[in-house]
Amino acid sequence: MADSKKWVVMATAQTPTNIAVIKYWGKRDETLILPVNDSISVTLDPSHLCTTTTVAVSPGFEQDRMWLNGKEISLSGGRFQSCLREIRSRACDVEDKEKGIKIEKKDWEKLHVHIASYNNFPTAAGLASSAAGLACLVFSLAKLMNLKENPSQLSAIARQGSGSACRSLFGGFVKWIMGKDENGSDSLAVQLVEEEHWNELVIIIAVVSARQKETSSTSGMRESVETSLLLQHRAKEIVPKRMVKMEEAIKNRDFSSFAQLTCADSNQFHAVCLDTSPPIFYMNDTSHRIISYVEKWNRSEGSPQVAYTFDAGPNAVLIARNRQVAAQLLQRLLFFFPPNSDTDLNSYVLGDKSILHDAG
Ligand code: ADP
Ligand code: DP6
Ligand code: CO
Repeated sequence: MADSKKWVVMATAQTPTNIAVIKYWGKRDETLILPVNDSISVTLDPSHLCTTTTVAVSPGFEQDRMWLNGKEISLSGGRFQSCLREIRSRACDVEDKEKGIKIEKKDWEKLHVHIASYNNFPTAAGLASSAAGLACLVFSLAKLMNLKENPSQLSAIARQGSGSACRSLFGGFVKWIMGKDENGSDSLAVQLVEEEHWNELVIIIAVVSARQKETSSTSGMRESVETSLLLQHRAKEIVPKRMVKMEEAIKNRDFSSFAQLTCADSNQFHAVCLDTSPPIFYMNDTSHRIISYVEKWNRSEGSPQVAYTFDAGPNAVLIARNRQVAAQLLQRLLFFFPPNSDTDLNSYVLGDKSILHDAG
């Protein structure tokens, strides 16, 4: 390691968020973050909803520190510590010949990092900020510390930061395999189909409310596991069958099945929230009106044109079968749900599913 306390080595990464079409809701192990069922998501276009994280290391840093959206946050939580520990244990030699800096594998245990992260979309509002955020943290640290692990192996580390984060290390459609192993080694994300697959789909997000939700996903799903019988039935009986059908629908670009499964799974996830004691309400009146509108439109067309799904928040993620439908959808949304009207709807984000040309 170079002697000077003045050198700094940095790495930056950008990671998009992902939205589940078969939802993860419930853990069988809280510390390792092992889920009660498999899930499938679509990663969004990074130009719209993404996290950008810069990590720096210097012998002058006296402790690990992190800033989120410009404010310092504590890294003392178990999840951040798990990610940092797992990454440090896999760190490799790093050499910058031009600057005369060499960091050896053993040095990483003593060196501290500073982390600055920005979300370009609302944090903790049900748009999966924990997914983009923790995936980006793991990816940027892995880049800084020169890890040799592949994206699936990194996903098992990101999973320990936030479950949904494991799926943000790939573009396109991604599956989180729940795994069987109780130490979590086989609970990781894999790419379902190549990233370019089914690129006609267009995703429109209606930001119904950018406010921070009252119940975090972590505590919401803990309460559901403790109190909802519907969750048990869903995890054991419903999701395994739905996973098979959803994988088939995606591979065959079968929009009717895809939309039917996506909407049903979102509705069942919110039914589990209602079945929780005390009940959790993530959707609001505007969310319900958007569901009714899309259902009516799909019925009037004779086959589904648009799928809807809502994460743990009131914001609608709408997936249009192609560009023409997306244009119509946006027009209709702007007419029936105009921004800044008496609803608290304030913006629309239009994006494709993502192709991560350069995850760095
Ligand atoms: P969301 O629906 O936005 O994922 P969650 O309740 O799952 O909401 O998680 C929100 C939490 O995720 C935040 O309070 C914060 O602790 C963490 N988080 C969000 N963005 C980042 C980020 N860029 N870097 C690190 N942690 C983040
Ligand atoms: C509704 O991954 O945010 O978005 O693992 O406790 O961090 P933790 O929870 P988180 O939960 C996401 C729940 C969901 C569905 C999904 O993304 O699959
Ligand atoms: Co989250």
